[in-house]
Amino acid sequence: MSSQRVPIASQRIDAPLTSSATFLVVTATSKPDSITTIRSVLAGLDGLAKNVSIRDLNAHFTCTVGIGSDIWDRLTGLPRPAELHPFKEIKGEKHTAVSTPGDLLFHIRSERRDICFEFERQLMDQLGDSVSLVDETVGFRYFDVRDLLGFVDGTANPVGRAVPSSVLVAEEDSSAQGGSYIVIQKYTHDLASWKSLPIEQQEKVIGRTKLDNVELDDAESGQRSHKTLSTIEDENGNEHDILRDNMPFGSPGSGQFGTYFIGYTRRLWVIEKMLERMFVGYPPGLHDRILDFSTPLTGTTFFAPSASLLASLDSD
Ligand code: HEM
Repeated sequence: MSSQRVPIASQRIDAPLTSSATFLVVTATSKPDSITTIRSVLAGLDGLAKNVSIRDLNAHFTCTVGIGSDIWDRLTGLPRPAELHPFKEIKGEKHTAVSTPGDLLFHIRSERRDICFEFERQLMDQLGDSVSLVDETVGFRYFDVRDLLGFVDGTANPVGRAVPSSVLVAEEDSSAQGGSYIVIQKYTHDLASWKSLPIEQQEKVIGRTKLDNVELDDAESGQRSHKTLSTIEDENGNEHDILRDNMPFGSPGSGQFGTYFIGYTRRLWVIEKMLERMFVGYPPGLHDRILDFSTPLTGTTFFAPSASLLASLDSD
């Protein structure tokens, strides 16, 4: 993907929503050659991706890598993206957006679960003991891109030319051009209590109708819907979109039902503002009611540098 203003090859952030995805978060270990190994694996990621994607070109395989704030300097030795910092915990009156560790995120997407699996297997072989696992979540498409709350998820995402201008850093931060900030949160849902809420109430929580996905009007005051709370304007009244690639995950046998939230953005402050409005509330005290049924287990910020920067990581 490239924007007219960003002549640098970015990673495949704009890849289409697939029917399978793996979200892999790891931290670097303190082994003496960890950083060297990680650099060389990241620089060779394109080759690794080719090994796997050639086996079924129709499976639309992509892997996006995000680098965490704590490891950025050691790993890249390059100027820090202007907004990159660790995920800040947000404590609302009732709900908390927790901050959890993570040096690297691999967002692995494909139409085929086996292709995601095979890539991750070869990747972990290469990384060896240079990393330790923080979280591995396997997401799947649920019918017509619904989350496990039963709503169509991803509708308001930017499309076409609006994608690069929403997600790729441009001339405002020249050394980070072509990159994108990523925020992840792994949520689990209390489906039993969500299901006890009448559908009309659920629709008010989300801000769309459940069956046919029609947008409801924004509330002018009082309790706002999830859709309204996550619509962000700057001081000049410009709305700033982000790109979400959320996936359901879970295990009915063990009663786990979740949504893995992943947002890509050109401006980290936009996602941070969304989170503040969700957890603290807007006005403060009136938090996003989705949180009464959804608990974040993780919260981590990464920066996905351009593909060219990744490829140059092992050149001294
Ligand atoms: C439990 C986790 C979450 C679930 C189940 C969820 C679900 C949804 C659904 C069903 C919609 C309406 C359809 C759509 O436009 O996609 C929506 C909209 C949206 N959500 Fe979420 N969401 C979650 C967490 C988050 C978080 C953490 C953020 C940002 C920090 C976020 C940002 C947005 C945005 C920007 C929109 C579009 C608003 C607009 O209409 O412009 N969501 N979400």
